Amino acid sequence: MSYPDDAAFGDLSVLSPLLNQLDRFNQFEGPDPAGRRQHSWKAHLGTPLPEEGAGIDRVLADLSEWIVPNGLRNGHPGFCGWVTTSPTTSGTAATLASTVAGSQRVWVHAFNYLEHLSLEWLKELFGFPAHWHGTYTTGGSSANLIALGAARQWAVEQQGIDPSMNGLPKNLKWRIYASSEVHHVVNRAAAILGIGRRSVIGVPVNQAGELDLDQLRNQISRDRAEGYLPMAIVATAGTVNTGAIDPMRALRQIADEEQTWLHVDGAYGMFGILDDRVSDRYDGVAEADSVALDPHKWLAAPVGNGVAMVRDRDVMGRAFTLEPAAYLEGSIGEQTEVESPFDAFGEIFHEYNLDQSAPSRGVQVWAILREIGKQGIIRRVVRHNDFARHLAELVQQAPNLELLSPVVLSICCFRFQHADLTDSQLNDLNKRLVAVLRAEGDLVPSMTVVNGKLAIRPCYINPRSRLRDVQLLARRAEEIGLELLPEFRESPAE
Ligand SMILES: Cc1ncc(COP(=O)(O)O)c(C=O)c1O
Repeated sequence: MSYPDDAAFGDLSVLSPLLNQLDRFNQFEGPDPAGRRQHSWKAHLGTPLPEEGAGIDRVLADLSEWIVPNGLRNGHPGFCGWVTTSPTTSGTAATLASTVAGSQRVWVHAFNYLEHLSLEWLKELFGFPAHWHGTYTTGGSSANLIALGAARQWAVEQQGIDPSMNGLPKNLKWRIYASSEVHHVVNRAAAILGIGRRSVIGVPVNQAGELDLDQLRNQISRDRAEGYLPMAIVATAGTVNTGAIDPMRALRQIADEEQTWLHVDGAYGMFGILDDRVSDRYDGVAEADSVALDPHKWLAAPVGNGVAMVRDRDVMGRAFTLEPAAYLEGSIGEQTEVESPFDAFGEIFHEYNLDQSAPSRGVQVWAILREIGKQGIIRRVVRHNDFARHLAELVQQAPNLELLSPVVLSICCFRFQHADLTDSQLNDLNKRLVAVLRAEGDLVPSMTVVNGKLAIRPCYINPRSRLRDVQLLARRAEEIGLELLPEFRESPAE
């Protein structure tokens, strides 16, 4: 069916061939064509703006033949880079369902209810207090931004000023404290919030990569002497480089002493609390003022799914209220007795968030947890942490591999190493080694720098990864390193 603008709607059975193609894509067979063949698919897709449309059949054919096969294989079992993966079937189904039948999260309908219910489930899963308030975001970046927006509201209110109404007072100078390993989205949040990137102080870390408490105390007292006020302390629960977890109980105590906000960035590592072997490292998280976490990482929800949680819903509301507007009036009514779904906004999220219009994301989390349950995600987290531990053992047993940081969660930082090469030559060799692995396509780790040494950095959150992919990574890293060795031996040492 279609109207004069020629957009098809109604008959979704036309999607069947595309679903088959997506299924084929998910087999990840053969070499990955997307990078190598970019000239051919860019040439096909890069047409001028069409004057007349080609029709739905042509769109579906292009999707099946040109776009999906050249998509991103971050769900491949050997993909273990950055902190990303592709969704499993339940999250995919939920997304399709919400695109069609839940295309706004507001008003009174099942998707709006799941937006609320799934956040309740997440609070229970992590042992957060029942009165906490959560809101879905586009990911960890915006979850941290929203949480720090609430922190800013609270901190400036303590000085008798409402920053949401009046902006930041010119006579006050602020600091946000985090470890030097903090994800840069926190610096960007400070920039957007008008505090400034420079106001985020990267406190040095100890050998384990955790924020050094003495250094923090000294820094705060130095800053106070110069007239700076602490706006927030940010603890990271699972740093992006090594998976280190900052001591949250002690940071809570310092935050109390300094009467400041404690925010936890758990975008990568919050799900790690589900592994009994490390759960005590999260002690204190339930006493934080806010937490950012990302279902689109370890829970493998479709990308675009983050969560900001705060202890005090009202402060978040004061920071992010949309304020009354004529076109919104009349929509807010009793939620239980409505004749039409459009008589009320249902569970309201746009008063606590950046977005007014937003997709239903709760249904994705609901679908995944309904499918695999609490025990399913616990098993996944434990399995992935096992992978990183097992890899660390293999690395330590291998004569030419070196472990570069302790394994806490599912990240294992290591490198090829050889006594004939300097650190600088080893950095170059390991960089090339990762490029060779990626070109082969079966194993895709990412890299980072640990104490000046370039590290191969697999991070296991991909539900499809298997033990044999982990073992293959250790084996291939050593083999490729030895193959590259002669070339780097001859390269000039700095
Ligand atoms: C600790 C941490 N914080 C924040 C982020 C940013 O999250 P996102 O990529 O969802 O915006 C990441 C991403 O890897 C992360 O690991």
